[in-house]
Amino acid sequence: MTENKRTTRTVTDAEMAEQRAYTEQIAAWNAVYAAEHGTSRRYYVQTFGCQQNEADSERLAGMAEAMGYVPAAAAADADLILINTCAVREHAEERALSITGQFKHLKEKNPELVIGICGCMVSQETRKERIKHSYPYVSFLFGTSMLYRMPEILYRYLNEHKRQFFLDAGDAGNIAEDIPVRRGSNKQAWVSIMYGCNNFCTYCIVPYVRGRERSRRPERILDEIRGLIAEGYREFTLLGQNVNSYGRDLDDGIDFPDLLAQICALEGDFRVHFMTSHPKDASRKLIDVMAANDKAAKHFHLPLQSGSDRVLAAMNRRYTIAQYLDILAYMRQKMPSITVTSDIIVGFPGETEEEFEETLEAIKAARCDQLFTFIYSPRTGTPAAELEQLPDDVKGDRMTRLLAVQNEIMLEKNQACVGGIYDILVEGISRGDKTMYAGRTEGGKLVHFPADEALSLTGKMVKVKITAAETYNLWAEII
Ligand code: 5AD
Ligand code: SF4
Repeated sequence: MTENKRTTRTVTDAEMAEQRAYTEQIAAWNAVYAAEHGTSRRYYVQTFGCQQNEADSERLAGMAEAMGYVPAAAAADADLILINTCAVREHAEERALSITGQFKHLKEKNPELVIGICGCMVSQETRKERIKHSYPYVSFLFGTSMLYRMPEILYRYLNEHKRQFFLDAGDAGNIAEDIPVRRGSNKQAWVSIMYGCNNFCTYCIVPYVRGRERSRRPERILDEIRGLIAEGYREFTLLGQNVNSYGRDLDDGIDFPDLLAQICALEGDFRVHFMTSHPKDASRKLIDVMAANDKAAKHFHLPLQSGSDRVLAAMNRRYTIAQYLDILAYMRQKMPSITVTSDIIVGFPGETEEEFEETLEAIKAARCDQLFTFIYSPRTGTPAAELEQLPDDVKGDRMTRLLAVQNEIMLEKNQACVGGIYDILVEGISRGDKTMYAGRTEGGKLVHFPADEALSLTGKMVKVKITAAETYNLWAEII
């Protein structure tokens, strides 16, 4: 077992071998089933939440396929349903519970159906209890750091005919390598570089459900990316709750800018994105590395959360609006073409009208290319949930006003792109218009352009000239 400085524990080869043995046992059962029925058992993964969950779901799918399941087109066709939940806002929890509720009738129709639930929501003890008592048709449940044990948990359920509940204490520091992955794309790949969070922003549930920060070893990350480049992947998104503190729990002195530089130095034609960055740790060194490397995508997601220093302090964010704008100015000076995106929470407990107006001023000063805006949602167990809450109508009104200001900024910024030339990665045929392709710029702006379908551009990079702009869309022509 390799021990890092803090609580990080790399799951041993022997433990992973044990999981592979469970996997093979289930695969053998599934092979018998397939031979008898002339069709394989199917799995379906339902994902809620952030990119970290998307990445985890690709691992769930990978494990399911290693166990002999094949993808189901819909939950109704599946023999194994896995629900990967989110806890960051109440709405996400309600949706996960509602979907879980809808799967009850599938279980009634097919008593052999296995339903597993995992992720951030059920990593809370109270939610685990709720699933246990109110959702008796859920076969098994496991917490975020138990993901690699899914084969064992499923095996135990099938073998013991007993529901399984595997919740860790929340701060368990596992890192598991070599989990099978079934990637959703053959061009773009998520690469987790670390797990967990140590920041304890007072509104946020993540540190309680994903445990402490723990970094993967750099050589494991580089090996993974090298392999993906060889397979033809062109876009990587390095994932962590706060990538800027990468390496602090390792003993080899590496930090995030070093890691990014090492990745950019790999051979091949690719772009690297990363998320998320905490402004308190977004260093000039990181910005210098980005500026110096063509392979580092010129996109920075830097969540501001509030434009009021008092609210930022109450959120335990540990930076001021002046410091935030300072980082932004340095970034834009070094990389004039950079796309900046941010997160804002409105209606944090105690946020006054004046403080909200400070947020409006801050976003006018920051002029981000896109904002992800959230109404504060109290999360049980976090400090802010204990404070006196603002009325819903005040929160709703602030959200509307925030969006109006930001939409104006986005339209102006998009209009400024007209006439510009961009490399875009083509995602496929436009959703709204079958005669158009859609793709994204390095900074994630959505661009539509006319093209002959026979060109089959999906997954390719094309050079376009922007011809027209709206708040959320750009139009272009291939050049
Ligand atoms: N309420 C509303 N938004 C939240 N976020 C995190 N916790 C909450 C909460 N309790 C937002 C933050 C974070 C993003 C991923 O979700 O803006 O950056
Ligand atoms: Fe939550 Fe703050 Fe950690 Fe982000 S940095 S996951 S907002 S506690």
